[in-house]
Amino acid sequence: MGEAKSEGRMAWYDVAAVAFGVIGSMLQLWIQTLRTGNLPNAEFLLFPGSDGLFQVAIYDNEDYRVPFHPTQDVKFLLYTPSNRKHAFRIFVNNEMIFKASPFIRDIPVRILIHGFGQSSRKGDFPKKVRKTFMAEEADPCNLIYVDWEKSAVAPLYNTAAANTKDVGHEVSKLVYFLISNGANLSTVHIVGFSLGAHVAGFAAKHFRKKYGQMLPRITGLDPALPSFYEKGASNRLDFTDADFVDVIHTNGKSSARFVGVGIHNSIGHADFFVNGGDRQTGCRGLLDVLTACSHMRAWRYFLESVASADRFLAVPCPDNPTFKAGLCGDCDRTKRNCSVAIPMGFWTPSTARGNYYLSTKRRKPYSYT
Ligand SMILES: *[C@@H]1O[C@H](CO)[C@@H](O)[C@H](O)[C@H]1NC(C)=O
Ligand SMILES: *[C@@H]1O[C@H](CO)[C@@H](O)[C@H](O)[C@H]1NC(C)=O
Repeated sequence: MGEAKSEGRMAWYDVAAVAFGVIGSMLQLWIQTLRTGNLPNAEFLLFPGSDGLFQVAIYDNEDYRVPFHPTQDVKFLLYTPSNRKHAFRIFVNNEMIFKASPFIRDIPVRILIHGFGQSSRKGDFPKKVRKTFMAEEADPCNLIYVDWEKSAVAPLYNTAAANTKDVGHEVSKLVYFLISNGANLSTVHIVGFSLGAHVAGFAAKHFRKKYGQMLPRITGLDPALPSFYEKGASNRLDFTDADFVDVIHTNGKSSARFVGVGIHNSIGHADFFVNGGDRQTGCRGLLDVLTACSHMRAWRYFLESVASADRFLAVPCPDNPTFKAGLCGDCDRTKRNCSVAIPMGFWTPSTARGNYYLSTKRRKPYSYT
């Protein structure tokens, strides 16, 4: 466990990553300039993109936006036990297509929202999500991917961030459409990774305002920090959004870490800080930054948690120093204080409140139990 070292100082690999990022950004900016013919007034930022690939994010300005039409460009792809492999695209307010879809009314609805630079077709994330929820032995459910790839495309981070609100509104309309067609609202669970966590937050805010109802549960997987946290609860995922909001923190930007892309503060009803919540064991140095290893662990842990409620047992604890000092116990690793532990991830009970801490192994399977 190499976390905790270099408190308050920038580690060499953070410096190297930033240097690498600046060079990369200049290259990408140059390419964009050649393509669009105008030089944007932009700042740079390191941000993980599709799995295993580091990307440079540009804090682009408003006049540098890619055209985005939420009602057409946000796609909803449905998998069910009768179409485990091939998605069926559903369209909000198109009842005819919906009636012909494989949607099953009396099983839960799980909605997955990807992050910046990701898609619902390419990379590890969509593949593993489908494998987990559509496995023969898995609990049957309707799994819906929110594909907003067109707006989430790297390197324009601000464009993607600014569009999370519109994407969220589409998701809200989708949920309303589903329940108008017989789906059970209390089974709807929205899971959003990184920027996708804020999409989920905006979906919930819109749903409450427009349809006067609360969404039952949102799980935020390492919600993205840049351009969100500082804007306050009404502009990001927040515990007031749904009846239950649980958040998994794996790459929070804390005072001890210069590089981190997630929100490090508690924003849910229950906040889980894994291995301290800022850097994950087995994610090393420069590679961690370049591959977004710690950030990506948020969804990896979540998917691993689905198989059993005995995994990732977390203990309530006020903060990381207290946890590290062993004052709260550590149920997953050392089996201390398991009487107060609860599972992180899919099986988290909706009664959970406060901060929870746990440690993991360096490699898969990550949970000790
Ligand atoms: C909706 O789901 C909840 C929770 O699973 C269940 O308790 C309730 O009976 C369901 N309602 C209907 C109308 O099926
Ligand atoms: C177990 O957890 C409780 C509640 O957080 C705490 O008060 C107590 O000190 C912990 N005990 C041990 C042995 O860590």
